[in-house]
Amino acid sequence: MELRQTLFGVDVPAPVLLAAGTCGFGEEVAGVTDLGRIGGLVTKSVTLEPREGNPAPRVAEFDAGMLNSIGLANPGAHRVRDEKLPWIRDHLSEIRVFVSVAGHRVEEYLEVVEILDGSEGFLGYELNLSCPNDTRLGGLPFALDPEALTEVVAGVRARTERPIVVKLAPNAPDLAPIVQAAEAAGADGLTLVNTLPGLAFDPVSRRPLLGAGAGGMSGPALRSVGVHAVWRASQSTSLPLIGVGGVVRGEDAVQYFLAGASLVQVGTASFWDPRSAPRVLTEIRGFARRNRVASITEWIGAGQFGGLRPETPEVEAVVDG
Ligand SMILES: Cc1cc2nc3c(=O)[nH]c(=O)nc-3n(C[C@H](O)[C@H](O)[C@H](O)COP(=O)(O)O)c2cc1C
Repeated sequence: MELRQTLFGVDVPAPVLLAAGTCGFGEEVAGVTDLGRIGGLVTKSVTLEPREGNPAPRVAEFDAGMLNSIGLANPGAHRVRDEKLPWIRDHLSEIRVFVSVAGHRVEEYLEVVEILDGSEGFLGYELNLSCPNDTRLGGLPFALDPEALTEVVAGVRARTERPIVVKLAPNAPDLAPIVQAAEAAGADGLTLVNTLPGLAFDPVSRRPLLGAGAGGMSGPALRSVGVHAVWRASQSTSLPLIGVGGVVRGEDAVQYFLAGASLVQVGTASFWDPRSAPRVLTEIRGFARRNRVASITEWIGAGQFGGLRPETPEVEAVVDG
């Protein structure tokens, strides 16, 4: 089966990447995950200053996924440039690496990009505008506010020639204006979705399970939310889409392709088994063989709606019901 695609002006060898925040900067997982077999990875989100992160416990598992409140612990842009990117340049040249960037203010994103952009070894940026644990100061998360999102994306666009992928939130009331704002401001692709805000209590102690209180929910419980968001975004743009949320098996990835994603990312499943991403790829190949699919492009955006066009009210009723 043909899994290669040309996206963002380069050859992407396979449609499965590791998701931001679940693989460090590659080096941390290189001993346990065969990185050479997957399409690429997205680094932990990088902020201007180093961040210690939130109080423990930072993750809590439940039956359908995980809650986390890591608090974007990361070494800060200067150390990432000096210590993390050289390793990526020397070890990950066969796969595609996006550096995830986060911040409390528009200027923080711009400064991080200015610090990193002269380095070699990575393809582009994934702008994390949607972290539920680390939101914009004094306002809605960037991914829920088209004007603020425009400021970040246009500002980064003016500072780099590299591809920019914008990571959006699963809880936007209407994705269309957000998707259109990202595209108009110069995004080259979109990643959908980040974690969904969530909270869990210990019923005995009556305290939240996470040290920080609330957190972001990920894993299988997020899958249908992510597939829906990709499908909704695909109605508003022809930019390449990257689907993320609850990909555990090859068939989960195929659902994202049918909704319109060109690539998927694997996050939480890697915590359960660090070989999840290469296994998902193997399962995609097996599923394609059994169903006589010769190329991944046959799946992308090929979801069938029983003869109804997806944007018709009848389908809305089904979706909303
Ligand atoms: C422990 C943990 C840390 C994460 N850190 C980041 C991060 O730094 N930046 C980001 O954009 N997303 C982060 N995410 C979100 C994931 O990249 C992904 O969007 C989300 O977990 C849904 O995918 P999954 O269900 O496969 O985990 C994190 C998720 C988890 C579970």
